[in-house]
Amino acid sequence: MYYRAVGEIPRKRHIAFRASDGSPCFEEFIGEEGFSSTGSLLYHRGVPANLVDSRPWSLGDLSTEPNEPLGPRHFRLPDLFDDDRTGRDVVRHRRLILANDDVRISYVVADATSPLYSNGVGDEVIYIESGSAVVESIFGSIEVSAGDNVVIPRVTIHRWVLSDDPAAEPLKAYCVEGSGHIRFPKRYLSEFGQFLESAPLCERDLRVASGPTEVTGPAADADTDVYVRHRSGSGIRGSIVTYDHHPFDVVGWDGCLYPYAFNYRDFAPVVGQVVQPPPTYQILEGRNFVICNFVPRPLEFHPEAIKVPYYHSNVDSDEVMFYHAGETAARKGSGIGNASVSLHPAAYTHGPGRQAYLDSPSMTESNEMAFMVDTFNPLDVGEGGLACDDPSYPWHWSGRGPHR
Ligand SMILES: [Fe+2]
Repeated sequence: MYYRAVGEIPRKRHIAFRASDGSPCFEEFIGEEGFSSTGSLLYHRGVPANLVDSRPWSLGDLSTEPNEPLGPRHFRLPDLFDDDRTGRDVVRHRRLILANDDVRISYVVADATSPLYSNGVGDEVIYIESGSAVVESIFGSIEVSAGDNVVIPRVTIHRWVLSDDPAAEPLKAYCVEGSGHIRFPKRYLSEFGQFLESAPLCERDLRVASGPTEVTGPAADADTDVYVRHRSGSGIRGSIVTYDHHPFDVVGWDGCLYPYAFNYRDFAPVVGQVVQPPPTYQILEGRNFVICNFVPRPLEFHPEAIKVPYYHSNVDSDEVMFYHAGETAARKGSGIGNASVSLHPAAYTHGPGRQAYLDSPSMTESNEMAFMVDTFNPLDVGEGGLACDDPSYPWHWSGRGPHR
């Protein structure tokens, strides 16, 4: 990530500093890999360490079951939430679809503003299916809406602010929580971190916090809760920690670590003579997983090109597709629709249906929008996945049920 400076900061780091109104500021460094990698310096009006309470936060059902016997899965996410407005928020009401030690994938339909929150386990990528929100953080605010990939670094205190208009569309969010950092692929960047000319994105496509989100008035000095996901020796835990002031007290910051968003419409797909492999569509990578955006595009131009993915065995990865919009030709006749999720695990062969394969040379363009996570370690199925599982999906290719 490249350098940004926002709001008021001193002329030199690590020196005494007062904001323009004369009040003293307290410097905080948020840095990855100890003090040895990317980071930012923030200047607070309050003392960032002033804790007054800490108590447990139940994270709900994070249990998982192995995907056995081996087979593909189809999860119908729209079955997980009814349409009633019930005060659900993006932070506390996620339902777990798939998980392993490297990444957890969940889904939420939210209609309420979240509490302050930080993920101490890893970076998050929240993909917005529909609706809109403002992500307020210690770094400032970002407006987000459908098709945005919202990347929030580990430990960033933030909240999801939703409209309080009862007629507002709910926010549907597909949540990817890493167990480490999530970054752009190295092959997209110069050795100094700038996007290369050959990359499908560039710096102009990233939307970064517009300025410090400073809370004023009585709320600034009130005890304030922050919901924290954090590591423990035996898994992931939650705590609610309370500071003696509101953490949105930053007058300025600078550095290369901050939340940002970009929309799939700004991803420039590579189109070839014949079908391009999925890594062409990669946007981000985390510890033992990658993320791709499949975007609308003209299709391959060889006169006999097969324009759906050829059959493939995932030798090293479990493949998870979230079908956002449009039609994924390869899944025609499978029962998959918008907001479906498919799991195509390693050690099993998958691809398009027979007719979709045979018909594909006549296709000229795709309106597909899908978000994919490929993991290099196997995924287990969470409570939410089990609750919306489509038991007929594994057999749709052959049209025959199992021998039992
Ligand atoms: Fe695949």
